[in-house]
Amino acid sequence: MKIPEIGLNRDEVLKRLEAYREGDLNWKEGKAFAFAYDPGKEIREVIKEAYMSFLSENTLYADVYPSLLALENDLVSMCIEHLNGDQQVSGNFTAGGTESNMLALKTARDNMRVKKPQIVNPEVILPDTAHGSLHKAIEFLGIEKRIVPVNRKTFRADVEATRRVISANTILLVGSATSFAHGVVDPVDALGQLAVEHDLLLHVDGCIGAFILPYFRRLGVSVPSFDFTVPGVSSISMDLHKFAYAAKGASVIMYRNKELRRHQLYACAEWTGYTHINTTLLSSKTAGPLAAAWAVLSHIGDKGYLEMFQEVLNARDKIIRAIEEIDELFVEGTPDTNMLAIASHDINVFALWDELKECDWHLQAQFGYEDTCKHLHISVMIGNTKWVDQFIADLKDCVEKAKSANLDEVGEKTRSFAAALNPDDLNMETFLKFLEIAGVDGGLPDRWGKINEMMNAMAPDQREWLLKEYVNLLYR
Ligand SMILES: Cc1ncc(COP(=O)(O)O)c(C=O)c1O
Repeated sequence: MKIPEIGLNRDEVLKRLEAYREGDLNWKEGKAFAFAYDPGKEIREVIKEAYMSFLSENTLYADVYPSLLALENDLVSMCIEHLNGDQQVSGNFTAGGTESNMLALKTARDNMRVKKPQIVNPEVILPDTAHGSLHKAIEFLGIEKRIVPVNRKTFRADVEATRRVISANTILLVGSATSFAHGVVDPVDALGQLAVEHDLLLHVDGCIGAFILPYFRRLGVSVPSFDFTVPGVSSISMDLHKFAYAAKGASVIMYRNKELRRHQLYACAEWTGYTHINTTLLSSKTAGPLAAAWAVLSHIGDKGYLEMFQEVLNARDKIIRAIEEIDELFVEGTPDTNMLAIASHDINVFALWDELKECDWHLQAQFGYEDTCKHLHISVMIGNTKWVDQFIADLKDCVEKAKSANLDEVGEKTRSFAAALNPDDLNMETFLKFLEIAGVDGGLPDRWGKINEMMNAMAPDQREWLLKEYVNLLYR
């Protein structure tokens, strides 16, 4: 494709854009239990207007747009208050959870360079339920990682096992509030104590859970401590573009104090232009997400969120009760929030995913890691609540249908092929062989059971490789 020689008119541009969307997920219906975080039409309109009104303002230049500094400070203050931070706690608005986590780790690394310059190979200790964005940050920043298996019943971080891997190189412990896959809060209290005892920092990844958890607690759920009231917690990330329903590109990273936050900031005067100064990773970016995030918190308000999350909690509990009554299914771990991992020892959950998709339900298929179960992830959101009875009825039917699926052969073939491979064997021929095992020839099929089963049976490093190859092919 080339830039059109003569520009298209407005109507034509919009028509063509709309045409691109043909195969997209229909998230507005409320039948997706993942992927989109939609507060419904009325609030969506407010978000849109706020976003558009700040679309062209550039957050790089707070000097010429004082409104952006004021908006960010007000928004970050709301977030700090929400997590019981005191006057010392400071933070910044970022483009998302990945950026917030990346900054927390960069801050920890640069803090170490000043406070513990004797450390040459800094290490971060994280539970094996920690989100991929933390692994990404570790890789990008050139830090080492020590992964500690969580307790396989509660799916919470194992504090004693964490203690055992602390070394002279450790700079940071990580806990989640909550983990994405199992929706549980790690024992942040005990991790905080460990951090204090060993003079370490502790980052709480609250990207997905930190906003909703205080509301669940107020609604009577027994939520473990995870916020700034816990001694030893040095930073918390909290996304607003998830369950606060802000437009995408909205997260906050918060630190115990400004001394720590200073390590996050970047300035460069070693060039011929303006002095480059950034609070976060990106430079030029639209202020749309900032204005929209401020708008959505201000518009829904505390009472509005509490009412919303009451509905979400009721729906979540109803789904959990229904799953308890279906012999073939169980919820892995004990979720503290609105997210569930639906697993089975009796049917193949990837076949169940296919059947649910036929009924227009959209869940997220997730893979097993070591001895954990492959499962279907659902995040219960406000838009889903009206569908809960229908979902439960379809879930029961789909479990029956999934019983006749046979995906085991794909798993077995994958395992025996994958086990014989050396790292040097990961080439295009192998790639095509994996696709053949999954029954992919040409385009992607409607039913993903075989593909998911194949990927689940691969070793983690092989799956990473396969997906990178695939994405490298997909994108121009
Ligand atoms: C626990 C957790 N941390 C970090 C992230 C990364 O967030 P983002 O996709 O906004 O970069 C996610 C995303 O789901 C998450 O669940």
